[in-house]
Amino acid sequence: MVFPGDFLWGAATAAYQIEGAVAEDGRGPSIWDTFAHSAPVACDHYHRWREDVGLLAGLGVNAYRFSVGWPRIQPDGRGPGLSAGLDFYDRLVDALVAAGIDPVLTLYHWDLPQALEDEGGWLNRDTAYRFAEYAMLVADRLADRVGTWITLNEPFIHMALGYSLGEHAPGRKLGMAALPAGHHQLLGHGLAAAALRERGLKVSIANNCTPVRAASSAEADVAAAAGYNALHNELFNDSVLLGRYPDLSAVGAPAELPFVADGDLKLIATPLDLLGINYYSPTVIAAAVPGAEMPFEMRDIEGVPHTAFGWPVVPSGLTELLTGMRDRYGAALPPVLITENGCSTNDTVDADRRIRDAERISYIDGHLAALHAAMDAGVAVSGYLTWSLMDNFEWAEEFSQRFGLVRVDFDTLERTPKDSYFWFRDLIAAQNAG
Ligand code: FCB
Repeated sequence: MVFPGDFLWGAATAAYQIEGAVAEDGRGPSIWDTFAHSAPVACDHYHRWREDVGLLAGLGVNAYRFSVGWPRIQPDGRGPGLSAGLDFYDRLVDALVAAGIDPVLTLYHWDLPQALEDEGGWLNRDTAYRFAEYAMLVADRLADRVGTWITLNEPFIHMALGYSLGEHAPGRKLGMAALPAGHHQLLGHGLAAAALRERGLKVSIANNCTPVRAASSAEADVAAAAGYNALHNELFNDSVLLGRYPDLSAVGAPAELPFVADGDLKLIATPLDLLGINYYSPTVIAAAVPGAEMPFEMRDIEGVPHTAFGWPVVPSGLTELLTGMRDRYGAALPPVLITENGCSTNDTVDADRRIRDAERISYIDGHLAALHAAMDAGVAVSGYLTWSLMDNFEWAEEFSQRFGLVRVDFDTLERTPKDSYFWFRDLIAAQNAG
């Protein structure tokens, strides 16, 4: 398996999942601080970032995806940028660049300032404009050193778990009435993307994508799967790549979406330099039973390994996803950057202090082979960033799901590289030598 010489090899994290220090240096509360699950200390990266950059350097990566916490820059979601917050990311970026690591910056990874949620959050169109303003404050400070700008992380998951099902912050349970939260995130993406590109910056979005399979060939299952695919994948990919929304009638949306204004889709389809894809597993969908809350039902995939989280491990799903996107979008598909891929494992520290996370090694290895197969089939891929550099706050699961190449002891905050860290390091070194 030989990847191109300029391939980006890296790991990813997100501000709220690692930083802690939620009340320091003027940071305002985010929706996660007020939600039932919160992480006031997390990995304490806000204080231990030098050590974490050292771990990245030891891994030999040439890229690192992290996110900027909006409430550190604008505690109330509006107004001038807070210098202490900007200084933190400034120092981090300097340290990355000095270590030969390309910063891949995500502007929004789900930590909305609570003050904006109090005004409706992403259900409020104004939040899109606030986001674009915030993006410019970050760009003013970091544009000279940050190569790749990712506007949003997984607007689908944020809409679905945060606004539709209430499992994530802000905990709203609106069902299909959460759709405006998807549209307003996309509008925020478009406004920010256009402004970033005007400054000559490379722009991307990180969409959570999954190949959707029908549970059976029964018409009702096939229709439910198509509806789910429109909601999960096409709503976020067709809009940014083709400037149109899919037909969402199968999931109960009206043909006219009253919250979409003239010109919105044109902005949303601002050309992208890269499409970020977060891939974890395929999704199997069956028709809903009558009276169910949602118009589809998710099914497990039997006969394959499952991660500690219970997610099915299907590397070929990544090839299927990417070749399917190549077929659907053709020339409209920019080069793909895998912005997340990884698995949680039930790690134990052995008596010799080693953490033998063989499942993670096999997960990443299998997905790299699947990625390579997609590249052989003609999909342009510019890099692979694994989730995650270190164990961290896994949202609703809090600290129970460990996704890191590096173990974090959440009592002592000590970091210990796992077997997968050394394996990934050797793989990157071999690619660079080859
Ligand atoms: C993705 C999120 C990321 C992490 C992984 C496991 O949906 O973007 O923050 O939680 O899942």
